[in-house]
Amino acid sequence: MLNNLIDFNDLSLSEWENLFSLGVDIYANPAKYSERCKGKILATLFYEPSTRTKFSFQAAIIKLGGNVIGFDGIASSSVSKGESLRDTVKIVANYADAIVIRNANEGAAFAASLYSEVPIINAGDGGHFHPTQTMTDLFTIGTIGNGENKKLTGLDIGICGDLLNGRTVHSLLRAFSLYGGNTFYFISTPSLQVPEIFVSDLRKNNAIIICGTIEECIGKLDVLYMTRIQRERFADKAEYEKQRGIYILDKEKLSKAKDDLIILHPLPKNEEISPEVDDDERAKYFKQAELGLYIRMALLIKIFENAGRKEKEAEKIAAGFINSVKRCANPKCITQTEKYLPNIVKPGFGEVSYCAYCEHKI
Ligand code: CP
Repeated sequence: MLNNLIDFNDLSLSEWENLFSLGVDIYANPAKYSERCKGKILATLFYEPSTRTKFSFQAAIIKLGGNVIGFDGIASSSVSKGESLRDTVKIVANYADAIVIRNANEGAAFAASLYSEVPIINAGDGGHFHPTQTMTDLFTIGTIGNGENKKLTGLDIGICGDLLNGRTVHSLLRAFSLYGGNTFYFISTPSLQVPEIFVSDLRKNNAIIICGTIEECIGKLDVLYMTRIQRERFADKAEYEKQRGIYILDKEKLSKAKDDLIILHPLPKNEEISPEVDDDERAKYFKQAELGLYIRMALLIKIFENAGRKEKEAEKIAAGFINSVKRCANPKCITQTEKYLPNIVKPGFGEVSYCAYCEHKI
């Protein structure tokens, strides 16, 4: 049952595989699906900027015969007059059959799902997760984007750049913990390493190697996932300036890579990929963005197969979690700005528990 997509783990491996098979069929014959979501309305609530995610969701629902409403940035909505996330979602759920939401605060999509009568799709919650990007990444590596080398296990995968703030990285690592049997090379500076919460599951069935440079591992890689240093997540701009430009993929480094390497990037990219790499046949990031349309069409079909309004009561949904007397202290957590949200946590190890919204230690 696909009620919401907040985290990659909201679907089982077999459900993801069904979705990828549907995506392959839609890619081969999109016209067959042109009325599949006729009469459905998708709302795209983008509190933060987007090109790929927003437009591909909008194009996806239109290509499926549905329609789209939404806002781009808070200035054009009543959020600018102080309307809460809860009220916004409750209202929009009256007008739409599903809501795609992007917000700068970690845990915002989960918070929205507590109050929405229609499915919520997380299109990026701060530096936390971006599961539909991960869906696109796996669709690219495991199916039509990767020539003959289509698989999601037995791979050597380099992940380079801002592993601390990159929400696509966090979702990708969660996803690969469902597969196992891969070796990951984390290529980043010590201060931008991935938080433990996103690798604890991955460690159980994959190998992890920490690298200081791209050169150390590029010759071994089947996949190189480049990421941008996430300027918008740095409180200290001087620190951002120190971190940018350290890892740049160029032709010289690529000369040491395998012929069938697949280079991915969630985009937008800055200086971390030299423009000359775009012409290398191993660069698949534009194909990756294109495929995002077809796999989002598949996701919407699955979401609407489950159609029917749900009674959403925060208390009922939150019942799957543990009430906490402590409030999350992460300054980027949605609970910092939306004060009505219940204090709920996920159990951890021993005394440790994690915020149900942003997964920071409580
Ligand atoms: N990959 C991605 O999320 O791109 P946008 O920010 O343009 O949506």
